[in-house]
Amino acid sequence: MKRIAVLTSGGDAPGMNAAIRAVVRTCLYNGKECYGVRRGYEGLIEGDFIPLDRAAVGGIIHRGGTILKTARSPRFKEQEGVQQAINKLNEAGIEGLVVIGGDGSYRGAKDLDSMGFPVIGIPCTIDNDIAGTDETIGFDTAINTALEAVIKLRDTASSHDRLFIVEVMGRNAGFVALEVAVASGAEYVVIPELPLSIGRLCDQLNYSHKNNKSHTLIILAEGVMSGEQMRSKLQDTAGYEARVTVLGYIQRGGAPTSKDTVLASRFGAYAAESLFVGKTGLMIGCISNRMVLSPLERAWTEHKTISPELIGLVEKLSV
Ligand code: ADP
Ligand code: F6P
Repeated sequence: MKRIAVLTSGGDAPGMNAAIRAVVRTCLYNGKECYGVRRGYEGLIEGDFIPLDRAAVGGIIHRGGTILKTARSPRFKEQEGVQQAINKLNEAGIEGLVVIGGDGSYRGAKDLDSMGFPVIGIPCTIDNDIAGTDETIGFDTAINTALEAVIKLRDTASSHDRLFIVEVMGRNAGFVALEVAVASGAEYVVIPELPLSIGRLCDQLNYSHKNNKSHTLIILAEGVMSGEQMRSKLQDTAGYEARVTVLGYIQRGGAPTSKDTVLASRFGAYAAESLFVGKTGLMIGCISNRMVLSPLERAWTEHKTISPELIGLVEKLSV
């Protein structure tokens, strides 16, 4: 294999650029060429390729977003789109592809692999909802961004003795919410992995109120309901008046933390080296600090479990 390509796909996440850089520099170190595909699978179908030399990835290691841009590509879900992409890759003499993205992107990668094109996936999403790796690139930065905001919200919540609901991202998973809740010392966390009883939550709020808790923070995962919906449920059930903050896309931006930068660098290097030795149809992961490979399908056939220990901690430590 002399020439490979790299693309970013799905929602952007801090650390994508560090991963691109690591793929490119590992190619150069091994005497290989690397191309970047612009706009994810959309660019792949259109053959939107750019050569990436060492200078092209200089100064990007700490930049948020993705220099290659990203896209959601409905066309790539059709076999015709995948075939067109393979034709473009063959025409450009590209022999392998690194896909940086989430589980949706892996499904597309699996289609390439099934049609005989070598591909390796790098798990990159703020949601951390991919089995086969302890953490995905972008997760650590997102929780730190959210934490910074929640620390500020606590000041105003405390000054006014108020109840705050902070809605965080995570799609259908509660990984972001749970880490933010523990790290911020929030009183409650509401995540899709745990059954929610608004009645029980109101009882707990009453108890806290009687025990002179001056303010309360609830960290709510977007996958359960919106902050606004939760606000009106608390109001209707027990007359609680809550303020709502939706952190939204701010969680996807910014410079990656050192943890995400190191993870992205390790994943990028390992992905390129795996392709060089003929591995395909696999995703990179980091389990107990060791680089591992798993079948791409693991991302959508296996459910990543949330830590019961962390769930217990939120309750114990906010007593
Ligand atoms: P993420 O990779 O972050 O989960 P998406 O779910 O939006 O993001 O997926 C990114 C892209 O991957 C989609 O726009 C589409 O091109 C491709 N993709 C998603 N699901 C499939 C699928 N079932 N089959 C083929 N390609 C898919
Ligand atoms: O997957 C990352 C993520 O930011 C989720 O947390 C969120 O639900 C979703 O993407 C938002 O997607 P979009 O960029 O399409 O609005």
